[in-house]
Amino acid sequence: MKVGFVGWRGMVGSVLMQRMQEENDFQGIADAYFFTTSAAGTAAPDFGQTTKTLLDAHNLDVLAQMDIIVTCQGGDYTKAVHQPLREQGWQGYWIDAASTLRMSDKAVIVLDPVNRPVIDAALANGIRDFVGGNCTVSLMLMALGGLFERDLVEWATSMTYQAASGAGAQNMRELISAMGAIEAQVSSELADPASAILAIDRKVAEFLRSDTYPQAQFGVPLAGSLIPWIDADLGNGQSKEEWKGAVETNKILGRSAHPIVIDGLCVRVGAMRCHSQALTLKLKQDLPVAEIENILATANDWVKVVPNEKTASMHELTPAAVTGTLTVPVGRIRKMGMGGEYISAFTVGDQLLWGAAEPIRRMLQIVLQ
Ligand code: HSE
Repeated sequence: MKVGFVGWRGMVGSVLMQRMQEENDFQGIADAYFFTTSAAGTAAPDFGQTTKTLLDAHNLDVLAQMDIIVTCQGGDYTKAVHQPLREQGWQGYWIDAASTLRMSDKAVIVLDPVNRPVIDAALANGIRDFVGGNCTVSLMLMALGGLFERDLVEWATSMTYQAASGAGAQNMRELISAMGAIEAQVSSELADPASAILAIDRKVAEFLRSDTYPQAQFGVPLAGSLIPWIDADLGNGQSKEEWKGAVETNKILGRSAHPIVIDGLCVRVGAMRCHSQALTLKLKQDLPVAEIENILATANDWVKVVPNEKTASMHELTPAAVTGTLTVPVGRIRKMGMGGEYISAFTVGDQLLWGAAEPIRRMLQIVLQ
């Protein structure tokens, strides 16, 4: 199989390449090709493949020679290239991290630890477009998939705490710059234990509201604050990120025709690359907490149930603990005051791994097998 990689240099693409190297995936790919949107003919990265120069990612004739195209290049690239390539008669597999094709009838959203049967059925039916899900959705399903698989969820709300990485590499840089800039405003006062905290706070607040706070990417302060809106305004009070939570979850589960109601608010916080979510679920049955924990813990190899205790929650259920790992912890599981069917949960996951690159990496492996 000839496999073409587009967008391998960006943030998600780099994480994908790193994961593929860690898993020795390139050993199973006889013919890998690397594409570029800007520097065709220059040197390709060396993953042991034969062709050492970069190919033009907008050249449909060259793309059409691929059996599989894996793209992390982004939605604009998908919009520009995917349809013309299909119209030209290309029958290969298109594996894409961008959201453009997710809700297309001809595409499946891939998260194989949760929806392998949906993927297998699609492959058998000749589907050729496979798209990674929204990061928040994928991470929620990696954590809570067990309850959804057993059809135990009547409805769910998810209140998110989303990291800067979901907005892009430049946004991560801006977050760190802003953290440093805040500290710099008050470093002399901080060094003096006798200085007044309210004076420090006033200076920080003035800086947060000033034009000198770094906010070119987010548009408003994130460090020292938060942003209660992610992605486009759909005009009905809902953000596009919140809309995705429902439609993509149901599509991944293969139940768009009889959807589970899922809704909530999506919020950007000053975490680097781990999205966290607080969930309220109404179950169809009043199950013991131990049984719920068992269902969750056995759903896949990466979910980890954290006991609903202070020390474990503080140490194991945070972006600081989870960042850079494939483990998806879920904890704070307890019955809520509303009744026995209502449970809370809190989950954290790496936005670039299970939230972006890993489902794509694994889908490539599935196609290659
Ligand atoms: N839309 C997500 C976010 C990232 O902004 O955090 C991509 O799924």
